[in-house]
Amino acid sequence: MRVPIVRLSELGPGTTAPFRIDVDGQEEGAFVVRLSSGELRAYVNRCRHASLPLDWGDARFLDESGLLACRAHGARYAPEDGACVDGPCPGKKLRPVRVEVEGDLVVAREVAHASLPGSG
Ligand code: FES
Repeated sequence: MRVPIVRLSELGPGTTAPFRIDVDGQEEGAFVVRLSSGELRAYVNRCRHASLPLDWGDARFLDESGLLACRAHGARYAPEDGACVDGPCPGKKLRPVRVEVEGDLVVAREVAHASLPGSG
């Protein structure tokens, strides 16, 4: 699986970009976040509290403090590892998506298996 997402040059530190990807045979929303360090992380857009999308369809995933925020009931996740650090699902992790950079293009590769250690 190879899903082109966005040009790296258009994804500044502290910004995100949404995309769609196959998850267990179903197309799902996902997003990539560029950390302030410049590293990339990507996650399936499903909150670990009640399986709702984190955003309200507006592709806003980060709050003013730089955490990934679920708009439904206020869960907050660390963008570095997707772990819930505040709200109703402490310790649970967003499901990661593997992303790579090809030239100037950010590409999603695959979704981590749901039962892998650390997927919480
Ligand atoms: S669905 Fe995200 S906090 Fe409840």
